[in-house]
Amino acid sequence: MKTALCAMLGIETPIVQAPMGGATSPALAAAVSNAGGLGGMPLWGGGVDYLRDGLAAVRALTERPFVVNINTAFPHMELIDACLELEVPLVSLFWGASPQAIERAGSRGARVMVTVGGAREAAEAVAAGAGILVAQGWEAGGHVRGDVATMALVPAVVDAARGVPVVAAGGIADGRGMAAALALGAAGVWIGTRFLASEEAAIHAHYQRRLLDAAAGDAVWTEDLYHLGWPGAAHRTLKNATWRAWVDAGRPAPGGRPGEGERIVSGPAGEIERYTWNAPEPGETGDLDALAMYAGQGVGLVREVMPAARIVEEITRDADAILRRLAKGL
Ligand SMILES: Cc1cc2nc3c(=O)[nH]c(=O)nc-3n(C[C@H](O)[C@H](O)[C@H](O)COP(=O)(O)O)c2cc1C
Repeated sequence: MKTALCAMLGIETPIVQAPMGGATSPALAAAVSNAGGLGGMPLWGGGVDYLRDGLAAVRALTERPFVVNINTAFPHMELIDACLELEVPLVSLFWGASPQAIERAGSRGARVMVTVGGAREAAEAVAAGAGILVAQGWEAGGHVRGDVATMALVPAVVDAARGVPVVAAGGIADGRGMAAALALGAAGVWIGTRFLASEEAAIHAHYQRRLLDAAAGDAVWTEDLYHLGWPGAAHRTLKNATWRAWVDAGRPAPGGRPGEGERIVSGPAGEIERYTWNAPEPGETGDLDALAMYAGQGVGLVREVMPAARIVEEITRDADAILRRLAKGL
């Protein structure tokens, strides 16, 4: 299946694997790219060396295009400069990218993807030089930028984008979601939660099992519940005991939350306190279920762990079949 996005990026199917901090391995990004989609690698979690090493790790596994993701809620200009030096052709900016950041990222010809949560933000990103918009709906897993659901957001962003391609994110987990997103005017889809259930995802087996067992309504918008590490940024995670105790306590602000300061998990990175933003990672032990298990509402459609390449193939095949059927008027 091809859209304008495929020609623009040199990919075979307009599926982007959402870059997911703490969950994406170079193997995942490369597997998606090698399968004809676009892998996404978050490389903002450390300094310039971390970015350089992560980039090299993906480049060692694929010669196909992939996107490097930078979180603009944290110091980022140095990382953007490193992308310029390392000739990264495709950069994604998440969380309220300033016009300066967008312009800088695109200053040497790189294409800049900007995640937006509303039409006004979309228009501003386009004016600053965004080459592709990612419209992230409220159903999305992880940190959620806006408060509009994908169904209403995508066409509004398409209208605001003035011809700049829009990629739809949030709640898309299978071929039906992809076909719907394309019908709304998107040129592609940006999928996170479904790829957490891939063999290449770098998450703890407990978290992966919880994803497979979850229903759509188990993925709740939790304000900034897991605030330690990134305060004030809302997110969507699976219901667990940490969430339940906080709800029962009347959703108190940080400082008044039940069990604050408790060290609940230990692992290679040390001990992790309740309300930290970390998701359960391989090698950790303790009360893993009490950590942030990010998931979008599409989690109810995720039933099996499979190789990332198979996810790309299956979603592409099913979306294609639906669109052909609809084109015949059936
Ligand atoms: C575990 C997890 C981590 C995420 N980390 C990032 C990140 O580092 N950068 C980013 O741009 N988006 C991040 N996101 C958001 C995704 O890019 C994407 O918008 C979202 O997963 C789409 O919704 P879906 O999960 O319903 O497919 C994350 C999402 C998840 C589930």
